[in-house]
Amino acid sequence: MSTIGVAGAGSIGAGLIRLLNTSPAARRLRLKTVLVRDTAKSRPELPTGTPLTVAPTDLTDDPEIDVVVELLGGVDEPFRVLSRALSQGKAVVTANKNLLAERGPELFGLAAERRLPIGFEASVCAGMPIIRTLQEALRGDRITALEGVVNGTSNYLLTRMSEERAPYQDCLADAQRLGFAEPDAEYDVSGRDAACKTGILATLAFGAYVDFRRIPTSGIDTLDLEDVRQAEAMGYRIKLVAAARRSASGGLDAEVAAVLLPLQHPLASIRMECNAVRVESEGLVETLLAGRGAGPGPTSMSLLADLLDIAEGRGRVPGADHPFIAGVFDLDNGQRAASRYYLRLAVPDRPGTLAQVAGFFASQGISLASVLQPEVPEINGGFLVPLILTTHTTDRRRLDLVLAALAAAGWGRHVVLRIRER
Ligand SMILES: NC(=O)c1ccc[n+]([C@@H]2O[C@H](COP(=O)([O-])OP(=O)(O)OC[C@H]3O[C@@H](n4cnc5c(N)ncnc54)[C@H](OP(=O)(O)O)[C@@H]3O)[C@@H](O)[C@H]2O)c1
Repeated sequence: MSTIGVAGAGSIGAGLIRLLNTSPAARRLRLKTVLVRDTAKSRPELPTGTPLTVAPTDLTDDPEIDVVVELLGGVDEPFRVLSRALSQGKAVVTANKNLLAERGPELFGLAAERRLPIGFEASVCAGMPIIRTLQEALRGDRITALEGVVNGTSNYLLTRMSEERAPYQDCLADAQRLGFAEPDAEYDVSGRDAACKTGILATLAFGAYVDFRRIPTSGIDTLDLEDVRQAEAMGYRIKLVAAARRSASGGLDAEVAAVLLPLQHPLASIRMECNAVRVESEGLVETLLAGRGAGPGPTSMSLLADLLDIAEGRGRVPGADHPFIAGVFDLDNGQRAASRYYLRLAVPDRPGTLAQVAGFFASQGISLASVLQPEVPEINGGFLVPLILTTHTTDRRRLDLVLAALAAAGWGRHVVLRIRER
């Protein structure tokens, strides 16, 4: 029997507490105490009689509790709770990617020092067992690259915009209602959530800490239905892709960005809140994992699996060579490979504009593959109209010079997406 304290009874905490009460697999786990901010709050989603407290030490310092599960959200308070729990000799489990991406080295350092397990399967891609796959199935292989659709909310929005032409704001409200958007949805759609997950996955895949703050990151918050429509007309689908690849110099190229994927790309068919990660490695060549990447149900399932491992003595205790504490990876993002690009510009609706724009591209030696000016009388009540361009292969540095020239001309609003050929 393993006795558990759960910190947090929000969307995910309540999901786990219900699962602990109903799953036959959880019969050897005993929930003792649940930490919340406000014990007076009505909680119809929790089983009656769930024992609540507002004092973290009721979990961390209770000698009966063996494992503390952190489901609070944020970074500082979760770090305080888990480091205290470790210092009191307790195993810990967390679904918190922010905490691990930001303070993983300190937390894993403490666990290694105390020889205690940390379970964190639920922190990346919720119910899809990508952490286990990297830590166990692929541990003997040499991973060269990984890429994935790792933010369920963004993928849900992009899928509904593509399949139903549903407006962005309506889809976002639905994602929040269904419990898989973060409380601050900006965090999902800006790419920051995906960057944290990329930091964690790249750390495990490449063997040293990858600081997510150094990964160039953009999201889907500047896209609109026109981009989704145009991408599809050209035979592509827009996805928010998190990618990291070993570079020729021995460093790492990493990026989180919306990209145009050809329809036959394995990540192009990942729908709604599902996630997928594709791993390239020397031994297995290609491994693809897909599954439910958000929401209380799938997240609780991964938390339960970690709790069962710990209860059965199979929890993973980090050694001194654990990737989170083995060193820090260099990122060489200056070396981004040449690519084709999709651009949506907002330009003045007057004769000669098209020639002027083409001139900016020509001055940097960038060849345009297509130019389209959809018939829209005006946007945002002003005199700017959308101009959609695709380029032939170019390096990003030259494109950035064109974008700077456009901005200097007062046409600074633009969407730029990489076009993947395979
Ligand atoms: N949503 C997903 O699909 C998903 C998937 C994987 C991982 N996660 C991660 O799971 C974690 C929890 O997310 P959530 O959506 O469940 O958050 P949430 O709904 O905001 O719930 C947070 C819970 O923590 C409690 N809490 C927060 N700060 C506290 C403090 N200082 N002291 C005591 N209690 C505190 C809150 O208490 P009150 O109830 O009293 O306010 C609430 O019960 C996050 O790290 C998130 O990133 C989420």
